[in-house]
Amino acid sequence: MKISNNKILITGGASGIGLGLAERFVKENNTVIVCGRRESLLKEISEILPSVVTRRCDLSKAEEREDLFKWISEKHKDLNVLINNAGIQQRISISDNDFYKRAKEEIEINIESPVHLTSLFINLKSLNTIINTTSGLSFVPLAQMPVYCASKAFFHSFTLSLRHLLKSKNIEVIEMIPPALNTDLGGKGLHSNAPPVSDFIEDVFIQLKQGKSELTSGFSESMAKAGPEDLQKAFDRMNNI
Ligand SMILES: NC(=O)c1ccc[n+]([C@@H]2O[C@H](COP(=O)([O-])OP(=O)(O)OC[C@H]3O[C@@H](n4cnc5c(N)ncnc54)[C@H](OP(=O)(O)O)[C@@H]3O)[C@@H](O)[C@H]2O)c1
Repeated sequence: MKISNNKILITGGASGIGLGLAERFVKENNTVIVCGRRESLLKEISEILPSVVTRRCDLSKAEEREDLFKWISEKHKDLNVLINNAGIQQRISISDNDFYKRAKEEIEINIESPVHLTSLFINLKSLNTIINTTSGLSFVPLAQMPVYCASKAFFHSFTLSLRHLLKSKNIEVIEMIPPALNTDLGGKGLHSNAPPVSDFIEDVFIQLKQGKSELTSGFSESMAKAGPEDLQKAFDRMNNI
């Protein structure tokens, strides 16, 4: 994708990786729109980056996804990049009483939402790029977050198909595959030992400029390239087997 002069929607763009992308895309001379549920975060990003357009939206609700698309098609119909980045991560056990309820929340946000948004946004005439945020855990699961990892494996697989399916529409599909990074994903402090988002954003922009369609770094690079034996070893190591 070209790095400048785009109009970009970043879901979950007011915190963590989405915020890192928003800051960098603004610096590279793009118009950036972010959406998320927390008004306080949207207000903060407007203060730090006044050019960023914000929109409150709960992507777990189909009608709010439709409203978001309607608003974009009326007010920003020249949008050309969709970044499906919003996600949640839950440490849950299959025997928890609320397992199914929490699993459903994860499925709604991590799977239903990007699938639905993609089906809507490809109708925008100007759309030429979709970036999907998957994970190094798309390739090897951590059993303490079983549905999260499965949702990212789904999203990786869906992204491969989309890349093929959308060629005929001239829409480029890029997979952004972060390793563990220091964000509030899953709750404050759970990722505080992981590397900063800024290093990953640097890696992402180097690879975007090289025209790569899979953006990896560290652990996610090794997992994306690993064969079955290495994936099994990683699974055993990560799950203390
Ligand atoms: N950090 C990591 O280690 C890591 C590694 C691999 C992949 N990832 C992926 O990277 C993406 C961004 O995560 P992050 O690490 O940057 O964590 P984060 O700061 O918690 O970002 C997640 C974003 O998603 C938004 N979001 C969640 N539920 C939403 C909903 N129902 N409607 C609208 N927005 C919603 C959140 O905003 P609101 O809560 O305000 O709605 C938040 O801005 C996720 O897809 C995550 O799975 C992260």
